[in-house]
Amino acid sequence: MLNVEQLHQYYGGSHILRGLTFQARVGEVTCLLGRNGVGKTTLLRCLMGLLPAREGQVSWEGRVITGHKPHQRVQAGIAYVPQGREIFPRLSVEENLLMGLSRFPARQARAVPAFIYELFPVLEQMKHRRGGDLSGGQQQQLAIGRALASQPRLLILDEPTEGIQPSVIKEIGGVIKQLAARGDMAIVLVEQFYDFAAELADQYLVMARGEIVSQGRGVDMERDGVRGLVAI
Ligand SMILES: Nc1ncnc2c1ncn2[C@@H]1O[C@H](COP(=O)(O)OP(=O)(O)OP(=O)(O)O)[C@@H](O)[C@H]1O
Ligand SMILES: [Mg+2]
Repeated sequence: MLNVEQLHQYYGGSHILRGLTFQARVGEVTCLLGRNGVGKTTLLRCLMGLLPAREGQVSWEGRVITGHKPHQRVQAGIAYVPQGREIFPRLSVEENLLMGLSRFPARQARAVPAFIYELFPVLEQMKHRRGGDLSGGQQQQLAIGRALASQPRLLILDEPTEGIQPSVIKEIGGVIKQLAARGDMAIVLVEQFYDFAAELADQYLVMARGEIVSQGRGVDMERDGVRGLVAI
């Protein structure tokens, strides 16, 4: 389980995260919703150790990781798919995927595991192409594939549907469902596309002004009026 307690973060003098507390459980998709600029990405960067938390505590599988560096979190089974994908445009698809294996011994890190290509067949077809030559949707699949290559037990995704065509959104949703159904991974999904979030969420959290203002079970999102809370 991921356990976040009273997390605070600032950019200079602006107080961005204001005492966030929540849990994300293994075998569940936790969807974090919220309008632009409320601090969703800032939270994920704190979870990944890319920004040191100013105050509060983050623990994963019972261990406090608040002060850990990103590579230590990768070793602890945490993987992050950043907003905007951030693949390596000049490296081939295969090389991008191999980057995801850096937490393993060199011997194991030489070949892309077959399950990645099974989840995203398009990546196998395109494995010799440069990452930068892929469409936006394919790059998003590549970024998710790279994160999965590390065989995470906590997968963190930041707006994977942003700027992507509907057919690929559907494929990505299908993959997230398959991963959740395995039951051995906690998935934290930041999303502004309400229908996508509602279809996948076991648990939802709504953020506004650096705080969680509403939370509940995914099946109750409509009843709880979450659509209105996040409508742009
Ligand atoms: N590096 C930075 N320095 C200063 N302020 C920042 C920085 N990054 C983000 N901010 C500000 O912090 C606030 C939260 O930003 P953040 O990117 O976490 O929001 P978000 O919820 O992810 O938004 P979006 O939905 O647009 O991705 C915003 O007001 C943003 O302008
Ligand atoms: Mg963001």
